[in-house]
Amino acid sequence: MLYTSLFRPFLFRQDPEAVHELVIRLLEQVGKTPLLSGCLRRCFSVEDRRLVSTVMGLRFPNPVGLAAGFDKNGRLVRSIPLLGFGFMEIGTVTAHPQAGNPRPRLFRLPADQALINRMGFNNAGADAVAKHLEQAGKPPIPLGINIGKSKIVPLSQAVADYLYSFERLYPWGDFFVVNVSSPNTPGLRQLQEGSLLGELLHALQEQNIQLATQAHHPPKPLLVKIAPDLVPSQLDAIVDVVAEQRIAGIVATNTTVARNGLTTALDEAGGLSGRPLRQRSTAIIRYLFQRTEGRIPIIGVGGIFSAADAWEKILAGASLVQVYTGLIYEGPSLVRHITRGLCACLSAAGLQTVTDAVGQDACNPENTPR
Ligand SMILES: Cc1cc2nc3c(=O)[nH]c(=O)nc-3n(C[C@H](O)[C@H](O)[C@H](O)COP(=O)(O)O)c2cc1C
Repeated sequence: MLYTSLFRPFLFRQDPEAVHELVIRLLEQVGKTPLLSGCLRRCFSVEDRRLVSTVMGLRFPNPVGLAAGFDKNGRLVRSIPLLGFGFMEIGTVTAHPQAGNPRPRLFRLPADQALINRMGFNNAGADAVAKHLEQAGKPPIPLGINIGKSKIVPLSQAVADYLYSFERLYPWGDFFVVNVSSPNTPGLRQLQEGSLLGELLHALQEQNIQLATQAHHPPKPLLVKIAPDLVPSQLDAIVDVVAEQRIAGIVATNTTVARNGLTTALDEAGGLSGRPLRQRSTAIIRYLFQRTEGRIPIIGVGGIFSAADAWEKILAGASLVQVYTGLIYEGPSLVRHITRGLCACLSAAGLQTVTDAVGQDACNPENTPR
């Protein structure tokens, strides 16, 4: 309430990226201050055993995570858990540090409760992020690291580029997400095509096994993040590769290049996120859950602004969910609202745990893919 009536009107008058940088700096400081950290934790955390789940062999205190792109450099691994999140995904990190696209590159569409971004993987690079993570220590919630291709590296050398980031960041991530779906790195989404994706995931999985053997632990969960703009035949090909390469899960979805149904007349290139993405991303989740018969965990992301939106994605087949744009529009209490709301949804549905709800809607014959 305080956020939407007081802070948001003020913040939305400032440049979106400047606000983002300010928030990162503030949160980073809060994470280093024990008194403030304690206040935040007490204010935002919801502990309820019905929300606890084990997915991909990892224990999640609740199913609501921070999506990639908010904390590109892993500066907030101490602060994000204080906001009540059950897990976080940092990145996208690339092997080479890069400045990203020229500014302005982030735009608000308040009438549509959406954002358009063409950041272009601005990040400090795998070496610097590894140092940050080493200094910060292990966060109390599962940490995902999203890796992508450096802009200066041609597509033909993408595999080696991903492998570098993966190896460099390996000790710090509980799971890794292979980003082949950002619309803002030229050619990147071609890596979603069956044979190229197979080659990339095979190489990463081989290295995963090798690194895990050296460290005497099981291989870490490797996931792939996909675009919402794929047609069923492309999704089918991805599901086949995911099964062949024993990929642990799918993050669905990234931002969209579609502009359907917007009321804002803003002609900016980039990926659209927020409300207009919600239904499309839920449809992809449902399709994937049905195609895989619920065998491959899905992290559902796209347009979640409330507990009802998160519940919809869980019923469609998401084991875990993530937010980004919703956080910008609803503020830091969003996670608490979602976690509390999910408990109410479980009670109303007569279900014991959030795991029991996963894919309940997708099992409905009326929702079979066409
Ligand atoms: C400003 C911004 C930057 C993003 N950067 C990344 C990124 O670096 N890597 C990535 O995989 N996704 C990135 N995303 C996509 C989000 O992780 C998420 O998939 C997408 O925004 C849909 O969720 P939402 O509607 O809750 O925002 C970014 C999104 C936004 C709005």
